[in-house]
Amino acid sequence: MHESRISNLLKQAIGMDAEIVGQSVIDHAVRARMTVCALKDRGEYWERLRHSAEELQLLVEEVVVPETWFFRDAEAYVALADFVLNHWAPANLTGVLNVLSAPCSTGEEPYSIAMALLDAGLPAPRFKIEAVDVSERALADARRAVYGRNAFRGRALDFRERHFRPVAGGQQLNAAVRERVRFEQANLIGDSFLPGAAIYDVIFCRNVLIYLDGATQERVIKAMDRLLTPNGIFFVGPAEAFLTRAGGFQSANYPSAFACRKADGKMRAPIQPWQPPEKKVKPAAARPGRNTGILPVRPAGILPAETGSGELEARASHRQDAGVPDLESAGRLADTGRLAEAREACEAHLLEHGASAAAYYLLALVRDSLGDQRGAAESYRKVIYLDPDHPEALLHLALLAEKQGDPAAARRLLARVRRGEEAIKK
Ligand SMILES: C[S@@+](CC[C@H](N)C(=O)[O-])C[C@H]1O[C@@H](n2cnc3c(N)ncnc32)[C@H](O)[C@@H]1O
Repeated sequence: MHESRISNLLKQAIGMDAEIVGQSVIDHAVRARMTVCALKDRGEYWERLRHSAEELQLLVEEVVVPETWFFRDAEAYVALADFVLNHWAPANLTGVLNVLSAPCSTGEEPYSIAMALLDAGLPAPRFKIEAVDVSERALADARRAVYGRNAFRGRALDFRERHFRPVAGGQQLNAAVRERVRFEQANLIGDSFLPGAAIYDVIFCRNVLIYLDGATQERVIKAMDRLLTPNGIFFVGPAEAFLTRAGGFQSANYPSAFACRKADGKMRAPIQPWQPPEKKVKPAAARPGRNTGILPVRPAGILPAETGSGELEARASHRQDAGVPDLESAGRLADTGRLAEAREACEAHLLEHGASAAAYYLLALVRDSLGDQRGAAESYRKVIYLDPDHPEALLHLALLAEKQGDPAAARRLLARVRRGEEAIKK
């Protein structure tokens, strides 16, 4: 009885759905808090919790999932730079670009936004980033801005040389980037969440909707709709794109960026058609800025971690010859809600090119979005077979194991994620 009361309180407080994250995750957090409070009886803990806002916050700190890293789902940052240079800047020759990162966790996401914009040539005074999260602990880490190895994943890490310097305990982010971001505690599902309307040109709300129940997801998407300017752009996580379509958004047509815009918004026609980032990128010095006075995008080390440099293009050209859809096209189909076609494209890709973690991971996400949990679990397992430390596949499998009533398997998978994180830190 106390379990369900505590779960209900957490659902009311931050929207976290026990059925989605798994009761065992909540139980684990409750046990940790009971140990700190020196309480043995769950009833006593419940009494303390329901009368103490402070204890509720401490339980929230224990239960939230702060998993994040720099340039996570890197295509989003390439799309961001393209949007700003080719859509926002030509329409705003003066003025400031307002960006929201909600939730921002320990800061990697809003700081990646700042680095991507600076590297694209947007002058620092021309953009402001507000970053919010419910976790005070995560925000304290974000303000400190010293990061360990776990924050730097994948192979494209040249941004680290440009924007960080080594200090005891990790890498300290330079002040020029830190100063672009303002952190504040806020609850996405609170009644007073960021009052006002049409404030932000860019919103990142990634990898939190997956933990919420349907009604709360809808509420958060409505809040983002209220806060986004009519011609703004809205980024979500890979498993969340289909939710935005139900909320009246449409794809912004950036492959694998999980970006959308208001259905009635008027996004200016791009000055040049969208191309895959690797083909489009040229050294900044080689191309003059456009009439905006802003330099075009330069590589900035934001290529997707899974694909590695050049591998996808090599496959892409082969594939075009063979008439088999490439992973980028499959990602684009998934992005625009054509999930059945995306699944077929992934399957055709796997038949033609053989097994790869990237193809199975996309197939798993698509199957997940289609509600095919068994198929998704099977594909995530193949990802792990090919890449045993793939943290996202391990996390998704853990969530699925919880949903399917197997908390022991979920715990084992989460332990593997933690072991992987610790190995990276060493
Ligand atoms: C997995 S992280 C995502 C961080 C980042 N957006 C990314 O994609 O890497 C989820 C974050 O959501 C925050 N969170 C959970 N519920 C929240 C709520 N109701 N309001 C604000 N933040 C919340 C957690 O504290 C955690 O830092």
